Amino acid sequence: MFSPQQLLQKVNTHLDSLGYLHEPENLYQPVRYVLSMGGKRLRPVLMLMAYNLYRSDVDAILDPACAIEMYHNFTLLHDDLMDRADVRRGKPTVHRRWNDNTAILSGDVMLSLAMSYMTHVDDTRLRPVMDTFIRATIEIDDGQQLDMDFEQRDDVTQAEYIEMIRLKTSVLLGCSMKIGALLAGASDDDADNLYKTGEQMGLAFQLHDDYLDVYGDPATFGKKVGGDILCNKKTFLYVKAMQLADDLQRRDLQHWFATSDPDPLFSETKIAAVTRIYTDLDLPVICRTHEDEFYRLAHAHLNKVSVPDEAKNVLRAYLASLMERTV
Ligand code: IPE
Ligand code: IPE
Ligand code: MG
Ligand code: MG
Ligand code: MG
Repeated sequence: MFSPQQLLQKVNTHLDSLGYLHEPENLYQPVRYVLSMGGKRLRPVLMLMAYNLYRSDVDAILDPACAIEMYHNFTLLHDDLMDRADVRRGKPTVHRRWNDNTAILSGDVMLSLAMSYMTHVDDTRLRPVMDTFIRATIEIDDGQQLDMDFEQRDDVTQAEYIEMIRLKTSVLLGCSMKIGALLAGASDDDADNLYKTGEQMGLAFQLHDDYLDVYGDPATFGKKVGGDILCNKKTFLYVKAMQLADDLQRRDLQHWFATSDPDPLFSETKIAAVTRIYTDLDLPVICRTHEDEFYRLAHAHLNKVSVPDEAKNVLRAYLASLMERTV
């Protein structure tokens, strides 16, 4: 079995060797920029790990693995535009470093490149792989739209929130693992259980993303701490806070989430006030409890996959490491 570090190395080397760079420079420089800023690469690593449960020739699927990372980075370019985010992975976002149109078009070409690299699979697997991938891309659009729609609402339920993050985030982890299984020739049941492993892990992952957006260390987080609060995002912390708040706290939350102002002093005051309410309501602990529950379900699905149990330990340890991440 390959370690996560070995797989990460393979993904990074392969991403660097993809020959997508050509004219016009202003279209492809941002692609190279975003792909060279690092990132955890967890989706390609999960695809390779799922494949590696069955087969050892992981190099054979580096094109589809990099396709999923290319696609993910496309979503980040557009997400940062939609979320008015200025920093990602510690660097200015593409729309800040260049402009909005560049983020749109360089994102578009990344989507096309991702589609193209995803077709680099054995003909016998092409149809199910593309069906799985394309379905995920449509669901992610659905989720991103809900995420934006929810900015305007103050009555988002926990169930609505979970479905929104299943769509915007989880399906891509599920899809990555399922494609790894499909390419390795796994049974339908195994492919399905690996999809569900990724899906449940994705829910835990997005809850943790929401948590870090408020409580991450600004020195290392790589994104703006408090960015979700400034955008009035209906994160897990917000949804849960609205359930648990007393009348005064609920009125305060409603006030802050109905008020926006680009003034930096206002922004910092809003972040501090909302964070204070979240902390008073013990949301870091409550969030972690829910993360752990999704994480447990991810393992329950992984346990059903019909390969020798020891073969799953690398994947198990990798999932555990994602739960402790700080970026
Ligand atoms: C960020 O994804 C977007 C979410 C789905 C939360 P990652 O946290 O995987 O970002 P990188 O690729 O490691 O930067
Ligand atoms: C990201 O959700 C989901 C997608 C990119 C599809 P977020 O908006 O929470 O991701 P970050 O926090 O900007 O990475
Ligand atoms: Mg965002
Ligand atoms: Mg977003
Ligand atoms: Mg986030």
